[in-house]
Amino acid sequence: MKKIIILHGPNLNLLGERDKKIYGSLTLRQINQKLKAFALAKKVTLRIFQSNSEGALIDFMHKNRKWAQGLVINPAAYTHSSYALRDSIEAMPFPSVEVHLSDIKKREKFRKISITAPVCVKQISGLGWKSYTEGVKFLLKYVD
Ligand code: DQA
Repeated sequence: MKKIIILHGPNLNLLGERDKKIYGSLTLRQINQKLKAFALAKKVTLRIFQSNSEGALIDFMHKNRKWAQGLVINPAAYTHSSYALRDSIEAMPFPSVEVHLSDIKKREKFRKISITAPVCVKQISGLGWKSYTEGVKFLLKYVD
């Protein structure tokens, strides 16, 4: 049984209300339900957490670092700003995949730069909620 952390960064709690043309109409709860169903089929255990606070995301990683075998993270806007999150991902004993609902390469200039991607084994962007399931799939092969 594989154990994977799913982290959702700031403002993702507003999915379903926020910029639906860019992020889709599913709420975070609905995305998490899809992830849980996917995990069940793949025999993976997930620990899922969302926070608007950088420190809380980092603390969750630290607390679960001995439990998890991998991390799928949507750092949201922290992707483009957080060296603390970058260092924390780098410090983890497991591989991480960075995911985005939207295609950050096709959006504003500031979104094209990811501070966190260089410490991840893969970046998956632009597949909507399926970016997360693709992230889990990639990790499963990676840690196999
Ligand atoms: C996002 C893209 C980020 O640029 C943005 O700040 C987000 C969401 C995405 O999933 O497409 O909040 O990470």
